[in-house]
Amino acid sequence: MQARYPSADPLTLLPDVDPRRIPRHIAIIMDGNGRWAKQRGFPRIFGHRNGARALRETVEEAGRLGVEAVTFYSFSLENWRRPPEEVQALMLLCVAYCEGEREALLRDNVRFRWIGRREGLPAEVIEALDSVVAATARCTGPTLCVAVNYGGRAEIADAAKAIATAVAEGRLQPSQIGEDTIASRLYAPDLPDPDLLIRSAGERRISNFLLWQISYAEIHVTDVLWPDFDASCLHAAIRDFAARSRRFGGLDESDSAGGFTGA
Ligand code: FPP
Repeated sequence: MQARYPSADPLTLLPDVDPRRIPRHIAIIMDGNGRWAKQRGFPRIFGHRNGARALRETVEEAGRLGVEAVTFYSFSLENWRRPPEEVQALMLLCVAYCEGEREALLRDNVRFRWIGRREGLPAEVIEALDSVVAATARCTGPTLCVAVNYGGRAEIADAAKAIATAVAEGRLQPSQIGEDTIASRLYAPDLPDPDLLIRSAGERRISNFLLWQISYAEIHVTDVLWPDFDASCLHAAIRDFAARSRRFGGLDESDSAGGFTGA
């Protein structure tokens, strides 16, 4: 099988996994930064900083494996309820990440995206995010998407608002509304739905992440705290995913005449 990207080498890195079973899009809930820092006697932001390092390493490995896109839950709408100093530190970390990673993303041919509500985010955070999106827009390698000021219900509500506006303006008939009408108005409609959702730090919750898009995603939960998540953890998640039988509400792969046709 031909690698999706020139640098992708799944057969060498994960020889026990059929390259056709590498997920196209992985969504990640990065949990456990606070606990990781606390275990070491440091403030929570120390955990977030190390979480940003784990994010970088995960994207690099995902790219080498031929994964097309990875979306990270970086700051949820609910995260505004955290102490102001932690919120402030996370916003600064987001800006620092964008400024610090820009050259490396360009060098590695990574296309940067972000999803979430603009309203409510500080202008300098929006500028930093938008600027890396623009700088890497022509990159043809893996997509790194960060969800910032993001909520899954809010995303669906925003799509509903856009549809209602189109109906009110006579550009759309209610009878024309289907699943595609909603899917095409989500924040990143061009990305494929995640095949695999990874959550670190052991909790078994979706936490309002990509609610529409993960309808058929396989879920992998690891007890590893996010800053400790490394290439071997990603390999374990992909191995787990590759061993699953994806039914999409239909027959088991082994029962269907066509067999497995890819994730
Ligand atoms: C959850 O851990 C993690 C977060 C709320 C923030 C994750 C953000 C980063 C890793 C920074 C990267 C950001 C960008 C935009 C690149 P937690 O604090 O809830 O951990 P706990 O459950 O142990 O308290």
